[in-house]
Amino acid sequence: MLARALTHALVGIEARAVEVEAHLQNGVPAFAIVGLPDKACQEAKERVRSGITSAELEWPLRRITVNLAPAGLRKEGSGYDLPIALAVLAASRQVPPERLAEHAAVGELGLDGRLRPVPGVIVAAEAARRAGLRRLLCPHESAPEAALAGIAPIPLRHLAEAGAYLRGRYEPEPVEPASSPSRNGSGPDLAEVRGQERARRALEIAAAGRHNVLLAGPPGTGKTMLARRLPGILPPLTLDEALEVTRIHSVVGVLPPSRPLVDRPPFRAPHHTASAAAVVGGGPGPRPGEVSLAHRGVLLLDELPEFHRPVLEALRQPLEDGCVAIARVAGQASFPARFVLVGTMNMCPCGARGDPSLECRCSPQKLAAYSAKLSRALLDRFDLVVAMPRSRARELDAPPGEASGVVRARVEPAAEAVREARPRLGREARELLARAVDALPLSARGRARVLRAAATVAALAGAVTIEPAHVAEALSYRPPPELGT
Ligand SMILES: Nc1ncnc2c1ncn2[C@@H]1O[C@H](COP(=O)(O)OP(=O)(O)OP(=O)(O)O)[C@@H](O)[C@H]1O
Ligand SMILES: [Mg+2]
Repeated sequence: MLARALTHALVGIEARAVEVEAHLQNGVPAFAIVGLPDKACQEAKERVRSGITSAELEWPLRRITVNLAPAGLRKEGSGYDLPIALAVLAASRQVPPERLAEHAAVGELGLDGRLRPVPGVIVAAEAARRAGLRRLLCPHESAPEAALAGIAPIPLRHLAEAGAYLRGRYEPEPVEPASSPSRNGSGPDLAEVRGQERARRALEIAAAGRHNVLLAGPPGTGKTMLARRLPGILPPLTLDEALEVTRIHSVVGVLPPSRPLVDRPPFRAPHHTASAAAVVGGGPGPRPGEVSLAHRGVLLLDELPEFHRPVLEALRQPLEDGCVAIARVAGQASFPARFVLVGTMNMCPCGARGDPSLECRCSPQKLAAYSAKLSRALLDRFDLVVAMPRSRARELDAPPGEASGVVRARVEPAAEAVREARPRLGREARELLARAVDALPLSARGRARVLRAAATVAALAGAVTIEPAHVAEALSYRPPPELGT
């Protein structure tokens, strides 16, 4: 007896259809899974057998072969448990095979038959919908996520419920998709930052034009504090953007079940010991890295010079292209990675540089090694570099600054203006820029970066032409000579 269940394999952030065939034959009782299962998928045998008996269903005492087709595609993870169990139940006629064929299924089984969520449910649900299926059997916790894909999820807590549902004895409650994008930002607020007007202004420009920003200065000046507040002033994500980010977070398994739709710009801050694969993506699978988790949001590299050099170099390609291309034996994977990069750093290893009241004790060699870590090419990718002074007592006692909501209200129209029609470069501004190219000097990329930043400054001012003042402000965010350029 043969029965089929439909499920999906994750390849990067895409889903491919997989047919789970269960075949029962007479003979010595045995259970085999074929079709390139990985270790976790192979172990489904134990969970499925135990889950079926715990659900008070019958484990067929026959020769059971489960084939996962297409056989050439690697099957990873525990999401095949539910479809395998259902295919076995259908093959032994404990659930109607024709009804099972109308559904896609995904989910991990516990030994007691309970269903557990797995990564990538939204991607699997979208693929099922595109294949013309209207219902997805999935763990209860994953149902709101699946509903985002425009498919009707059948939320299940236990394998017994799946059996009862397929036999027509149980109808679960319909599931509402997760709420639409909310505009109210949460997270830390800019109002808590005292003083540091220049850095605040740089964050506003960065948010409006999606510019990369580097905050440099002595310890305890609020660099990390400011960087963490950038997502709160970014324009909210549209529904399409939110779904795009949600897919990536779901595949990596960082989507909180309580908030299945990532409707705010994400914020990622990998530790400086992170490997290149963790930051840009890779490994078997391959799996998206931090740069893709930060897609449409902010990637903070706190203490930038502490990161391993290969990690910093690996960032150059996604920074340029807005995506990560990973070559694998099995082909190429591409993950979106369009993020605003924020770096923070001290001006020197001992941290005293840039603080007028302290004396830097770093040797010239140490200083040279420190700035050499940041290659010119990487530094060139920061449109805005702010050398932050230590706050004065007076500033720290000042009343709270502008709140994130107030800044965001200025950022939103400016962001739209830069996207729709970039301000034109006025004649005088062009002359100023030409003088800067010769005097600083500026590389061709440096010039383009200054121009981009100047366009954002103009958009924030509501101007349609870039004036010399806008170029001058953009030029003031070029890296200072202390950073070795
Ligand atoms: N401008 C500021 N306004 C209000 N609080 C501040 C400011 N700067 C620093 N602080 C306080 O000091 C703490 C440390 O700041 P933060 O971690 O941002 O410093 P940092 O510049 O990142 O230092 P380091 O170089 O050591 O990482 C903050 O949690 C905050 O309480
Ligand atoms: Mg810090």
